[in-house]
Amino acid sequence: MLKSPVCTALALILGIASQVKAEDAAGLVRKGAQAYRICAACHSLQPGVHLSGPSLAGLWGKKAGTVSGFGRHTKALSNSGIVWDEDSLNAWLLDPQALVPGTTMKFRGIEKNETRDNLIEFLRQALTENGTAKVVHDGLISKDMADGQIPPSLKEAGSEKQITAIHHCGDAYHVTTAAGAVYPFWETNVRIKIDTSKRGPGQDRPILLRSGMAGDRVSVVFPSLALLQKSLVEKCQG
Ligand code: HEC
Repeated sequence: MLKSPVCTALALILGIASQVKAEDAAGLVRKGAQAYRICAACHSLQPGVHLSGPSLAGLWGKKAGTVSGFGRHTKALSNSGIVWDEDSLNAWLLDPQALVPGTTMKFRGIEKNETRDNLIEFLRQALTENGTAKVVHDGLISKDMADGQIPPSLKEAGSEKQITAIHHCGDAYHVTTAAGAVYPFWETNVRIKIDTSKRGPGQDRPILLRSGMAGDRVSVVFPSLALLQKSLVEKCQG
């Protein structure tokens, strides 16, 4: 049967209209992906990669505070009974403290309704099972953004960073490196850290990292609490 010209024209218009709508929706998801940037400071979208916040992979439709392998959830969040969907995420992203008083997600919230809506449309894709690979494949976010701000690996740190001895004396730490240098640091400028992740120090030695403009502030990163307890001693010579 031949289609009437009117029908054809109508079909064409409807077709274009739905295409425009689909393009609009894709544009909003793209904007939402831009808004995700701020989340990547504390979250990874890779399964099992926990940063300051838990991995967000596969979270859509799951109960809050149940991500496996993350041991730092607050009771407030785990006991909240929240299931992550567009309504709960909307309230959470508007004001985490208002939805879950006492949560450790230090984020002041996104006030603009439109920004939140777009971000949630992006999360709807990103947080479904295998969504991470898809949003990276579709070019919505880069692989780096999906990984989140993972601290650099200390495994391959050179001998100038490997610490062979560290003593505390008076108001200072005296640090000896594998390269043979000995440095005194004011105790207040030294951050003592532990990195037990697979990115942590190799060789069973703590690592010296310089920070701050003048390089007089440092972090000493131990691979384990046991090594920290064994090596940090009060000793004034040698
Ligand atoms: C400053 C760090 C930080 C930023 C920025 C941040 N989060 Fe979080 N987020 C956390 C922490 C920490 C938790 C765990 C909170 C708790 O247990 O009370 C969390 C928890 C969550 C949870 C619940 C996870 C679960 O296990 O149920 C979701 C969902 C979430 N964040 C989404 C986001 C999104 C989306 C953004 C960006 C708009 C964001 N977060 C920005 C640190 C952050």
